[in-house]
Amino acid sequence: MAQVVLENIYKSFPDRQGERAVVPVATPPLLTADELQLADSDPTTNRLGTNVLRRINLTVVDGEFMVLVGPSGCGKSTLLRLIAGLEEMTGGNIWVGKRLVNDLPPKERDIAMVFQNYALYPHMTVYDNLAFGLRRTKLGNGELGAPTQWSQRRAGVPPVEATGVGLGAWGMGSRENSAFPTPYSLLPISKWAENLLVGMTRSLPKGLRYVNERERSVDQQVCHVAALLQIEALLNRLPKQLSGGQKQRVALGRAIARNPQVFLMDEPLSNLDAKLRAETRAQIVKLQRQLGTTTIYVTHDQTEAMTMGDRIAVMCAGSIQQVAHPLELYNRPATRFVAEFIGSPPMNFLPVQFHAPLLIIHPQFRLKLPEVWATVLQKYDGQSLILGIRPEHLSLSVAASKNLLVQVDLVEALGNETYLSVNPSESDLTATASLQVRIAPDQVARIGEQLWLSLALDKIHFFDPDTGLAIWHH
Ligand SMILES: Nc1ncnc2c1ncn2[C@@H]1O[C@H](COP(=O)(O)OP(=O)(O)O)[C@@H](O)[C@H]1O
Ligand SMILES: [Mg+2]
Repeated sequence: MAQVVLENIYKSFPDRQGERAVVPVATPPLLTADELQLADSDPTTNRLGTNVLRRINLTVVDGEFMVLVGPSGCGKSTLLRLIAGLEEMTGGNIWVGKRLVNDLPPKERDIAMVFQNYALYPHMTVYDNLAFGLRRTKLGNGELGAPTQWSQRRAGVPPVEATGVGLGAWGMGSRENSAFPTPYSLLPISKWAENLLVGMTRSLPKGLRYVNERERSVDQQVCHVAALLQIEALLNRLPKQLSGGQKQRVALGRAIARNPQVFLMDEPLSNLDAKLRAETRAQIVKLQRQLGTTTIYVTHDQTEAMTMGDRIAVMCAGSIQQVAHPLELYNRPATRFVAEFIGSPPMNFLPVQFHAPLLIIHPQFRLKLPEVWATVLQKYDGQSLILGIRPEHLSLSVAASKNLLVQVDLVEALGNETYLSVNPSESDLTATASLQVRIAPDQVARIGEQLWLSLALDKIHFFDPDTGLAIWHH
């Protein structure tokens, strides 16, 4: 296993065929407020020309499950393809462990990638799909790593024997060592002829295949992975005989079987229905914990990101805006974009005026902020701010100058909770969109009804209206 370090990565696609990509001249070390704002605009029109990835810096520590999340088109797949070596970088460095892999071809990077569309070989059985990569892999002395070495690399995984799916179960054997002799057991045979026989008999039923040392090792790994993913019963099927979830597990199995230093997964669950997605999500997390393999997982789904990641990197228009643990992202979003993207329904934003030391004025309400805000907001005296508040931090209340009068537009009762979509009454505030409010299931609200809402004072966020950066008190 290994850590992955991305250093100042840029990627441009040529505007037109044959034209050279734009290479950035200077690479300042940190995103400035100015840059972050640029990131909010269309990447094809910003000053860096056609850059779809801009100054990506990220360290994924050894064994970590890192989720890259962001809206469609923000550059997630491109970044993953750069790490895998399927796409060439415009600038920057990629380290896997201690190796700089910039110029290594994909197969030498010791990385396995799982795609959204399972990409299984349709004419091969599940067994052969799992074995395919292993048969092509050469390690060190030109042979596959010995099975013992393989299981040692995977701390905590039971050895093959313990899974109950050993070689014997397949009726496979070699000339030297087999409880189940094959038709070839007695042939005196050279290494060269052995390889030829392996290839020629590969498409035969298992009992008739010629099995050499290397094939035995492949078999052991395939069986091990099949046991891990509970797909032993599917090994003889063709991909067309599998459900979506089963195909996805085989695709995962193929990546796991290769025992890479790093897994890259690009929206691997998008083709599954909601229930299966939730199940497979849990299974992937469990497997990753068990295997301890450094993983970079791409999704546009914030729920997936929040439930799966050790840490999450939020991407927007080709840049990373924040990298943090899930709850830290939720509780302390660094930008308005992150605040809106993480959380469902998203955070509400209200334009307000600030008056030092602690007064907030909105056309409909006036609030006195807690003392903690005094210092950090001082410089915004007399200026506008964006106030952010999550749906669960607005609650039904009584008429008061510090509360907000709204009209209910929509009621979504989910059973365990109820969401309201509301509009500030007397709404001459063009900038104020409808607000989302979460109330308890036993609270009643009807469409068209007017309600008073109070804001949880200790849960308020502020954002600079020009830069979109969060203003934090410490
Ligand atoms: N081969 C390519 N040539 C030109 N533009 C590309 C190519 N691949 C991706 N892009 C552009 O790069 C941006 C990021 O794409 P992608 O990485 O697929 O986004 P995501 O995976 O986040 O949805 C998009 O604007 C897309 O149109
Ligand atoms: Mg993508």
